Amino acid sequence: MSSRKPIGFLDSGIGGSSVMIEALKLLPNEDYVFFSDSANNPYGDKDDDEIISRCDEIVDLLVRKKNCKAIVLACNTASAKAVGALREKYSDLPIVAIEPAYKMVHDENPDGFTLVMATRGTLESEKFNKLFYKYNNNKTDLLACVGMADLIEQERFDELQDYLENILKDYKGKTSNVVLGCTHYPLAKKQIKNVLGDVKFFDGANGVSRQLKRVLEQNDLQNDKTEQGKIDFIDSSPTESEQELKKKRFFKIISEEKI
Ligand code: DGL
Repeated sequence: MSSRKPIGFLDSGIGGSSVMIEALKLLPNEDYVFFSDSANNPYGDKDDDEIISRCDEIVDLLVRKKNCKAIVLACNTASAKAVGALREKYSDLPIVAIEPAYKMVHDENPDGFTLVMATRGTLESEKFNKLFYKYNNNKTDLLACVGMADLIEQERFDELQDYLENILKDYKGKTSNVVLGCTHYPLAKKQIKNVLGDVKFFDGANGVSRQLKRVLEQNDLQNDKTEQGKIDFIDSSPTESEQELKKKRFFKIISEEKI
């Protein structure tokens, strides 16, 4: 059975564009509504209850007002803290959640020294810790990159470069794998490479998109393959001009695929 209902994506800002790019490659005929929660970012240092309640409001809007047939949590922090509560409340709604791609390291390059970069919220979560202890290669450092998503969100790339020089200085020359455990971080690959050199990056965007495809198939929710899908973008910034700026940037990233 075909359906023209959209898929809802959510992130604390435009970071989830890195996930949307992969989803569009696999599912170009789907319609999407991307919710960027600029009014409440960053999520990285918020407590669980705050994130659960904010994600609940967004999912409610995506389902009731936008008629979404499935949700993608395109934010590692929101996934780590809220997916359990959301799945319990919206039990009939497929909810797909990203997580740091640490299993990929285990599968592809387990012998290399690995740095997992993520928000503090993600690294402290029970969900991430289960994953980490399951695939631990005993050559991994976990680095909470407090404030990094914010610098990317606000396009403060010079400050970002200084920030990375500082937090990554001990990892120069010894790191093979870098797990980008926040959906904003793929937008900073160039700046990370400037410090660490030629490392191998791992992120969950492709994995979560493949999972989305599987879930749509299992629930018979795919669109017809005849029509190109469309993307609707919502941003919660307080002013229309700020919302417009976010929208432009989001579509620029998507169209240039500059990740
Ligand atoms: N993009 C988000 C993540 O993947 C959150 C960044 C933030 O708002 O702190 O974790």
